[in-house]
Amino acid sequence: MIDLRTDTVTRPTEAMLESMREATFGDDSRDGDPTVMKLERLAAERMGKEAAAFLPSGTMANLVALLAHAQRGGEVLLEQGSHTLNAELGGIAGIAGLFYRGLPGRRGAMDVAALREAVRPTLRNQMGTALICMENTHNRAGGAVLPPAHMQAVYGIARDNGVPVHLDGARIFNAAIAVGCEPGDISRYSDSVCFCVSKGLSAPVGSVLCGSAAFIERARAFRRMVGGNMRQSGPLAAAGIVALETMVARLVEDHQGAKRLAEGLHRIDPSLVDPRDVETNLVRVEVRKSGRRAAQWSADLKEKGILVSPCDAYALRFVTHRHVSAPDVDAALNAFAELWTKS
Ligand SMILES: Cc1ncc(COP(=O)(O)O)c(C=O)c1O
Repeated sequence: MIDLRTDTVTRPTEAMLESMREATFGDDSRDGDPTVMKLERLAAERMGKEAAAFLPSGTMANLVALLAHAQRGGEVLLEQGSHTLNAELGGIAGIAGLFYRGLPGRRGAMDVAALREAVRPTLRNQMGTALICMENTHNRAGGAVLPPAHMQAVYGIARDNGVPVHLDGARIFNAAIAVGCEPGDISRYSDSVCFCVSKGLSAPVGSVLCGSAAFIERARAFRRMVGGNMRQSGPLAAAGIVALETMVARLVEDHQGAKRLAEGLHRIDPSLVDPRDVETNLVRVEVRKSGRRAAQWSADLKEKGILVSPCDAYALRFVTHRHVSAPDVDAALNAFAELWTKS
């Protein structure tokens, strides 16, 4: 099987397994654990923030950020295709008790004019904006990278209105590689940022939430409230440290694989994908012209040994990662081409 469903399938490297065996086993939620603290320091440093907290998942990191930034009943503004709105099962309202407004966007970047209209103060008869969120890279927009100038504009509006900004940077290292900058050059346009070591960076589990020392102190309390204290999480943090120190630079290979895939699909039929839109390791493929639904496509491709995820009724998501080689990409293209000619 060639697994193109997600980059979370990447297995830990030998160096990670070795570091996990040698890690400390302190209790992170009692006296603290030295390995977890080391990961948190490293993460904060890379993101240009004061402090960080290690959490089990990106979903929980986003939820804890919402809880730590916003008062119950406030309104959160975010791009309408964001992961937080579409794939985190309503925790924003159901758990954090926040209202939200999905703003229209282009390739994951919310419309700045719409944001300017939507942001508002709390008045006696008006719910105010409690938080603005961005996502970079943007999952549903096919791994699109938010232009730094866009992030700067959003952050400027937020600051002018005294509203904090959270960045869902689950794949911020992919964004940094695509732009050719440091992740801190991206996270500087936010007050808090979370990223995952469990995705293309190959660690088995974990996300890190970074922000000011006071914000992270609040986040630690909310992490405990939602059950995110992991106790002896040293081995997981150890793998995260290896991920940050050794697995970032190779993401460029995943981006090259995604480009190869997109170019091949475009040759099969230009309606499938525009390779110019593929900036990182996610490829959104529109199969509407075939008349067959994405779920059908994914079932047919599975029969041929290719695993992909439907991400909309007529769109598939292909994700490249460390276990997908150039010959694997070509095999996926061949399988796809055979099915396309039959449709
Ligand atoms: C942009 C984005 N944010 C958050 C998450 C959630 O991460 P996790 O699966 O660790 O909860 C994902 C997962 O794919 C994601 O793509």
